[in-house]
Amino acid sequence: MAERDRRHFLKTVGGVTLGMTAVSGLVGLNGFSQTKAESVAFPWPYKKVDPIAAAERAYQAYYQGGCMYGAFEGIVGELREAVGAPYSSFPTAMMKYGAAGVSGWGTLCGALNGAAAAIFLVHEGKTGNPIINELYAWHGAEALPNYKPRTPKFDKIVASVADSQLCHISVTRWCEKSGFKSGSKERAERCAWVTASVVKYTAELLNNQAAGRFTVAHPVPVAVKECLSCHGKDGSVANVHAAAHSSCTNCHTDVLKNHPVPLKK
Ligand code: HEC
Ligand code: HEC
Repeated sequence: MAERDRRHFLKTVGGVTLGMTAVSGLVGLNGFSQTKAESVAFPWPYKKVDPIAAAERAYQAYYQGGCMYGAFEGIVGELREAVGAPYSSFPTAMMKYGAAGVSGWGTLCGALNGAAAAIFLVHEGKTGNPIINELYAWHGAEALPNYKPRTPKFDKIVASVADSQLCHISVTRWCEKSGFKSGSKERAERCAWVTASVVKYTAELLNNQAAGRFTVAHPVPVAVKECLSCHGKDGSVANVHAAAHSSCTNCHTDVLKNHPVPLKK
């Protein structure tokens, strides 16, 4: 394809007219350079999403494709209906990869992974995105699920605090609290409600952002900031990468007793 034709083609992909930054190889918002082959610029247009409608859609989608798909489809499905293109050509089913902490590996919670993908798509693609920060810190701090779908499979699901963004820690803490096994139907329902809860909060955050009234309600916990003051990238030790975890002592359980240098009490 001639360069001029290619540009014309790229500019009209998905039925939307794309800015020249999409094709000219400039450095994108995220600071990563975009290659010429990268065709569709984002963020994509955002229109206010009804948080309850999105949460209900997420709950249904969970049972079709798991937590990450449920969360992504909860938001993007609503936008597909409200906006049409470019959303109508997005292969949302690919998000099924993130189920149970990526293909069953128990790493990043799929609901958080899917929500972050949707946020990246409609807000701005940059590391340290403030909406993702708020969502992830909220997920670590709140007792979840905090949204009950309209037609649930079980009437009551116990809420628990994950103190983490990881599938493994979140699910195991819930199993300990509820007494149900990790392979139970109740655990699946719990994750479906968590997916709906995450989507409801994500929609609220995105709506607030669009209306110019986004605020941070869940900053990085003080105890974590304290650890990062030495171990984070600007600290004296600087051997921990980013890591705005909810809790460092989740895993470093004995560090408060055995830390090599004295820590504030
Ligand atoms: C005042 C600065 C400071 C703070 C605050 C701090 N650390 Fe450290 N940490 C150090 C230093 C210095 C070492 C030793 C580094 C080395 O040996 O390379 C260390 C070592 C460690 C180690 C390795 C332990 C070992 O036995 O070698 C872990 C894990 C750790 N810190 C976790 C934490 C956590 C979690 C927090 C927050 C609760 C924290 N640190 C807060 C300075 C700090
Ligand atoms: C999900 C579990 C997990 C969480 C949460 C976590 N870490 Fe770690 N961290 C590890 C593992 C595993 C290692 C590698 C094994 C080790 O050295 O303990 C490690 C290594 C480290 C080391 C190097 C230890 C050494 O021996 O030199 C430091 C320092 C550290 N982590 C600090 C932190 C801080 C600060 C936080 C919070 C911002 C944090 N970690 C959160 C699991 C975790």
